[in-house]
Amino acid sequence: MAAAEIVPFAKTGGLADVVGALSAELAASGVLVAMVLPAYRRLPLSQLDKIEPTAVWSLPVGERMVETRVYRQPLSRNLDIYLVRADEYFDREGLYGDAAGDYPDNAERFALFSRAVLEIGRLTGSNMFHLHDWQTAPAAAILKSEPERYTDLAGSKTVLTIHNLAYQGVFEAGRWPALHLADGVFAADFEFYSQVNYLKAGLVCADWLTTVSPTYAAEIQCDGQGFGLEGILRQRAAELSGILNGVDYHIWNPEIDPLIAERYSVADIRGKAACKKALQITYGLEVNPDIPVIGMVTRLAEGKGLELLMEAGDGLFDGRFQFALLGSGNRRYEDYFHRLPELFPGLAGVKTGFDEALAHQAISGADILLMPSRREPCGLTQMYALKYGTVPIVRRTGGLADSIEPNSREGGGNGFVFEDYNPAAMLDTIRQAVELFGCRDEWQALMRRGMNADHSWRRATEKYLTLYRELLLNTA
Ligand code: ADP
Ligand code: GLC
Repeated sequence: MAAAEIVPFAKTGGLADVVGALSAELAASGVLVAMVLPAYRRLPLSQLDKIEPTAVWSLPVGERMVETRVYRQPLSRNLDIYLVRADEYFDREGLYGDAAGDYPDNAERFALFSRAVLEIGRLTGSNMFHLHDWQTAPAAAILKSEPERYTDLAGSKTVLTIHNLAYQGVFEAGRWPALHLADGVFAADFEFYSQVNYLKAGLVCADWLTTVSPTYAAEIQCDGQGFGLEGILRQRAAELSGILNGVDYHIWNPEIDPLIAERYSVADIRGKAACKKALQITYGLEVNPDIPVIGMVTRLAEGKGLELLMEAGDGLFDGRFQFALLGSGNRRYEDYFHRLPELFPGLAGVKTGFDEALAHQAISGADILLMPSRREPCGLTQMYALKYGTVPIVRRTGGLADSIEPNSREGGGNGFVFEDYNPAAMLDTIRQAVELFGCRDEWQALMRRGMNADHSWRRATEKYLTLYRELLLNTA
């Protein structure tokens, strides 16, 4: 199970949650799982200095051989993590970049990482490589292109999960040598408008492709929605499935969450009021149980629908709800949202930065969670919100469409859904939610329906297991 981020070791978004939780669930069901992650500075590396590496290899990156050490750490029954250490590439503050932008050598960094994944597969005798996103996608292409090098992996299979097609790992053609592959492989697998595209190679070469919701799996095959890769995705439609992510209820559960002000459950929901009060205090909002708090916990990035809030403008804050945002990412968005608390004191609160504890506090303390995404492969926070009795407002796209059903007068549904990507549609739906918040019984029934639903990983894990089995049986 190879990825550039895995909870609790390194995280910038949902990818980390998914790889950590799915691996643990697979291990619990009896599969031997080796998670593979770069050894970033934040681990911290000083811990690794105290232990012996499990293996030391010289791996090719371009014309150079790079010394790569791998450290194995057993985590629980059937579950180990392998940390790939090459300090010149991974002993850095960020995972993919810093304030100045992406690291200029990401092509080399993740070429090395992808090769290390295959070497670890040899070490462990793996028959299944589950790769995630562009940072590990080259492993599928390397394995296919160099059968003579990987004879011991001849019967093994590769699955590539697309968590977000918007991120592809595209580099100028001059970076091609980093992968150290025969020249013909560029044109066959990696070439994308004369550039090198790591994700594309995975889409072409992996034995099976998955993405993180059925709706997103369909959307990305449509013209204009596949970020330039829809043609390849259509070609591989028979080997592409959408499996909706789950929730790790060991981490996201108000009954046991150590990071929230007071614990609560569907049977005794009283603690949520304390969580709301704590959030109002933390965010400098007026402490008032009767006004609904709309929360957002999000990367401040393209696709998350932040433009809708910006286009709705300051008129959005009509005094009928409070707004609490936790976000990190793009400066353009940070600057916009930073103005709000001063303009709307007591009504709007904004915190920037990546803060795990605050994410739990915001999701537990808010009454409503807003996710107006333009595109959302799956989305996890809306499913976390359900468990915390926080009612989601989402736009109907990707995994949001697959997990949130509009509230109905007949007593169905678990949230609010709008269709059109425009500020008026969002505003209208916010107003409906704010209005229903005033009807205590209906609102509580809606909260409870969300809290009672089971979005655990069990169902998805079964689907991945079936997929692995079918792929391996086809080998025989
Ligand atoms: P994405 O992976 O596109 O960011 P998801 O909804 O799948 O969207 O997952 C987001 C994850 O990242 C959730 O676990 C959420 O709590 C977390 N998260 C997002 N922004 C922040 C932040 N600023 N601080 C802490 N956690 C955050
Ligand atoms: C990506 C997507 C998000 C998804 C997450 C985990 O970051 O943007 O929608 O939930 O991966 O699969």
